[in-house]
Amino acid sequence: MCGIIGYIGDRKACEVIVKGLKRLEYRGYDSAGVVTGDGSSLDIRKGAGRIDDLAKRLRFLDMKGTRGIGHTRWATHGVPNDTNAHPHTDCTGRIVLVHNGIIENFAELREELSRKGHVFRSDTDTEAIAHLIEEELKSSDDFEGAMRRALKKLKGSFALAIVYADEPDRLYFVRNESPLVLGIGNGEMFAASDVPAFLEYTNKVVFLDDGEYAVVTKDSWVVKRLDTGEPVEKEVHEISWTLDMAEKAGFPHFMLKEIYEQPRAIRDAIHGNRETIGRVAREIANYDRVIFVAMGTSYHAAIAGKYLFQKLAKKIPIVEEASEFRYEFEDLIDENTLLIAITQSGETADTLAAMKLAKRRGAKVLAIVNVVGSMATRIADLTIYTHAGPEIGVAATKTYTTQLTVLTMLAIETAAVLGTVPLERLESLRRALLSVPEFVEKVLELDGSLAELAEELKDKRDFFYIGRGIGVPTALEGALKLKEISYIHAEGLSAGELKHGPLALLEDGVPVVAIAPDGRLFDKMVSNIEESKARGAMIIGLSNRGELSKVADVFIQTPDVDELLSPIVYVVPLQLLAYHLSVLRGNDPDKPRNLAKSVTVE
Ligand code: F6R
Repeated sequence: MCGIIGYIGDRKACEVIVKGLKRLEYRGYDSAGVVTGDGSSLDIRKGAGRIDDLAKRLRFLDMKGTRGIGHTRWATHGVPNDTNAHPHTDCTGRIVLVHNGIIENFAELREELSRKGHVFRSDTDTEAIAHLIEEELKSSDDFEGAMRRALKKLKGSFALAIVYADEPDRLYFVRNESPLVLGIGNGEMFAASDVPAFLEYTNKVVFLDDGEYAVVTKDSWVVKRLDTGEPVEKEVHEISWTLDMAEKAGFPHFMLKEIYEQPRAIRDAIHGNRETIGRVAREIANYDRVIFVAMGTSYHAAIAGKYLFQKLAKKIPIVEEASEFRYEFEDLIDENTLLIAITQSGETADTLAAMKLAKRRGAKVLAIVNVVGSMATRIADLTIYTHAGPEIGVAATKTYTTQLTVLTMLAIETAAVLGTVPLERLESLRRALLSVPEFVEKVLELDGSLAELAEELKDKRDFFYIGRGIGVPTALEGALKLKEISYIHAEGLSAGELKHGPLALLEDGVPVVAIAPDGRLFDKMVSNIEESKARGAMIIGLSNRGELSKVADVFIQTPDVDELLSPIVYVVPLQLLAYHLSVLRGNDPDKPRNLAKSVTVE
């Protein structure tokens, strides 16, 4: 759960690396470090803290040299401090590396290497890798061979960038179950955990696969297999994202920019998938057993997907958190199963594990993913991209609404294949979906009043979010957004659950956010709202039906959107409310404490 970057060329490496690390900070930000050099002398600087502070304190930008690597960390082994910050070195200080991932057998390796006389300075799993390569180098001078032999002994996930002082013309990059992409420049080369880190310099990229490594000089690159050392043919892709898209574009935070990008993102999700959806829907129609797996916000999209498939395709999918599925479903999966994995990053460890399990058991795997070339897309038999563009804010916003868009399209088209719903109804839903970006634009106009509402709510201690039917995932997601960035306790639940326990927590002034789109369950929602109101709760009601304003203390008027499309529209005011509460409480909504954008460890 870290970000790594490497550069070799004619520029001042530290400048490229520091800029890249700032763009990778969303992957982790508890400590950072850089190593640069020309010839065989290397300068290593690292410490705990954010990149900007460290760049000043350790004067990263004074570092000399035209090759180097850098790292921004999210701790897994060893507390965040100066010593545990990357890079790490062997005993001689000549093998220097940075790592994203977890080495599961590091304790054994460390013990064995210590017995052989290696001296460890940090508590990290990463340091063992440097000593392991050093140990292998004792039996031959061939660094590349020694690196390969050493890495074969590792169990776990690793993306690595490695500098060897005695080979000043090259850098090594390795990928195994953690992301890594090469950037191909003119007389210069880059590598990073994610494309925005070097997109300013090149949009030509090569995605490494698991078990591959790259040897890179300023004018050349070659990708080889870690097990045999044989070269692998790789395709060079051109990325169409501009750096502008990856930057804040004048908004105070990435999260706010990404909330505002939703109309565009939803349009892209619709238009970018016109061709694929029909084909995938025909596949889905073949399966009786459909299982959605995902985590966090993507899991909420999965719950919405379940409602949509039930309503339209008359299928009853199972929805499981990937972290549960991977340990509980082994015997229940076979070739008659279709697993639909939803993951914006395509790198969530639990979701990848669930996908691999399903593949092993002969199931078909469909992935709904945002990040192009990510691991999930390599495991899946079929991939649908959400086309949201890079999402830098840790809290998922536009990736969620585009997941919902894709799931809606899939449910509509699967229903069309199966003939489960009259064609006129499907046609009207297709048309209505095309208007959703405009509806989202409409709710974005509520931003000012939501900011005022946040002022009123900023000192509240607990929030409840309730909904029914297709409103449930919106309630869950509204609560998750609030807790993760404002650090206010929030619970999302189906309104029917209230009186089975949570009602006991309601007292004077506790905000209850009620998702109440027009539809079959509107009256039931009103009853639940009345129940909460009778206990003194402060009702914040979201509906397209104006009469809710009579019951709600605060009424948020939503546009007239079909109930089945309401999740995409109704979540937007909840994202904005959470955002404003986060800022008012002095938090950084882009970098919530204890969280990271890609959860690449279990
Ligand atoms: C919350 C959030 C997380 C992710 C979860 C899964 O705002 O972003 O809950 O949704 O970590 O991530 P992906 O979708 O990348 O698999």
